[in-house]
Amino acid sequence: MTQSTNQLPGTFVTFEGVDGSGKSVQTEALAESLRNQGYSVLTSREPGGTPVAEQIRRILLDPQMGSMAWSTEVLLYLASRAEHVASVLRSALEQGEIVICDRFLDSTLAYQVFGRDGGDGDLVSALQAIRRANELSTGGIGPELTFLLDLDPTEGLARIRDAERTPDRLEGEGLAFLQRVRAGFLQLAEEESERIVLVDGARPPFEIAEEVLSITLTHLRRK
Ligand SMILES: Nc1ncnc2c1ncn2[C@@H]1O[C@H](COP(=O)(O)OP(=O)(O)O)[C@@H](O)[C@H]1O
Ligand SMILES: [Mg+2]
Repeated sequence: MTQSTNQLPGTFVTFEGVDGSGKSVQTEALAESLRNQGYSVLTSREPGGTPVAEQIRRILLDPQMGSMAWSTEVLLYLASRAEHVASVLRSALEQGEIVICDRFLDSTLAYQVFGRDGGDGDLVSALQAIRRANELSTGGIGPELTFLLDLDPTEGLARIRDAERTPDRLEGEGLAFLQRVRAGFLQLAEEESERIVLVDGARPPFEIAEEVLSITLTHLRRK
């Protein structure tokens, strides 16, 4: 297992996928449906979620920052996650809430390991090192259910362009980078098929939302 199952009463759900795959849309849709059914739900996103983590997010996503050392980038993500878990996620899970987070460790692995070819090219040791360091930043807290919204990055970028949003520092990395990220996500989903649900992100949002809700409700009933 890469992420230990939480011993806390809450339920931790994440959305993953390339930029423009619909994570923000589906995070909000799932939260609203669950709230309508009486669940207490907290939504958040990474990197970010607290004032300190939002400042780290600014450094990570600012195109003006240019490139940084591979390990700097990884450690900034993990620092942001440490802050997020310690000041937001842990207490919500302790209180029995459903926490839905837009990105978590799988994004770090897909972008920083697969996208960047492991920093120095050794994917296996990069995965190991990040998973170990992630334990430090999370204390073992990780999602028990993850939806991977799989989408061709070309389509994701087109959606973002349509929304007239300026690409951030990582979105500006180009298509080959994002194709490696997508393949990385798919590999992670294969390796952890009991946790990661592969969802075809190219379908209409309401169809995806229905599938995601149904799987989440089944998961909640089984707990
Ligand atoms: N299933 C979908 N089909 C078509 N467009 C979508 C879909 N899901 C989201 N979008 C649109 O694509 C853009 C990116 O969606 P968003 O949820 O912000 O993606 P992400 O958070 O993964 O980057 C938004 O303009 C959104 O309205
Ligand atoms: Mg988003």
